[in-house]
Amino acid sequence: MLSACEKNAYPEDHEQLSEEERIVIRFSHVVGEDTPKGLAARKFAELVKERTNGYVEIQVFPNSFLYKDGEEISALLNGDVQMIAPSTSKVTSLVPEWQVFDLPFAFESFEEVQEYVKGPAGEVLFKKLEQEGMFPLAFWDNGFKQMTNNHSPLHMPADFSGLNFRIMASDLLSEQFELLDADSQVETFDQVFPVLDKEQLNAQENTFSNIVNKNIHSVQDYMTISNHGYLGYLVLINNEFWKNLPDDIQIIMLDTLREVTEWNMKFASEINEENYEELQACRCLEIHELTDTEKKQWEDAFIPLYERFEERYGASYIEYLPKYQ
Ligand code: LMR
Repeated sequence: MLSACEKNAYPEDHEQLSEEERIVIRFSHVVGEDTPKGLAARKFAELVKERTNGYVEIQVFPNSFLYKDGEEISALLNGDVQMIAPSTSKVTSLVPEWQVFDLPFAFESFEEVQEYVKGPAGEVLFKKLEQEGMFPLAFWDNGFKQMTNNHSPLHMPADFSGLNFRIMASDLLSEQFELLDADSQVETFDQVFPVLDKEQLNAQENTFSNIVNKNIHSVQDYMTISNHGYLGYLVLINNEFWKNLPDDIQIIMLDTLREVTEWNMKFASEINEENYEELQACRCLEIHELTDTEKKQWEDAFIPLYERFEERYGASYIEYLPKYQ
């Protein structure tokens, strides 16, 4: 009954509506349009517009055009934008338990990430976001991070000494480099290329798609394929705004997101694969694939991070990682 009433609550001839009469959702993000997040956001906006006959307009602002990292969460909470899709690392200032995704080698594959996200630990993590005023609508993939620098090849933990990495704002990421005797500095995503280009920093970690899309490879000489860290996104909407949307609009949005999320998962692995091939073909940086023996050394060096996480946030988040199940 309720949804039938609400269904009639807005006019059908949506093309005739002014911006004030339509539902306008401003969706801000920091990456380029031709990336797993950029394309998924655009696809979502197009499909929702089509499925609501133009009644719901999702305006996507890519490339930190409206808000940078560090600004976009407050913009969401203040209602200046209604949707954002930050990487998991970037919500850790509000919900530090999300640092479980920053633990090196926590996941081996997209499938393991999905298993964790859909399991009980994921459920609790999502609930914590809602308690902070951000309703989690979906979880999108990008891929696994690789290490790049312009100093020397990275094979063993000792090779990191003297490097200064750009990192996302997450304490665990800073501790990760501290353990390797390297320095790190938090920089917003739009600053990655400029700080490396001006040699204010000499290293960074990111996925193939972000490296290629921001042309990071042109200012770095070495890349180690380590797949040590996972980069995924939380598609978040302002809680109050979400609660006030009509049921039928919520249903259309959730249904569309389910479809877009499935598409994003496939597309993310394809584009990262494609971008890796591009990096191999460009011969612009020396590429090293981490061997199993080297990986074991890295994993051993990172054990204290797991211990510290457990001391701070309890054992369950780690015990539920698929590799320990
Ligand atoms: C980064 O800051 O390196 C990434 O979080 C950017 C992104 O959103 O993929």
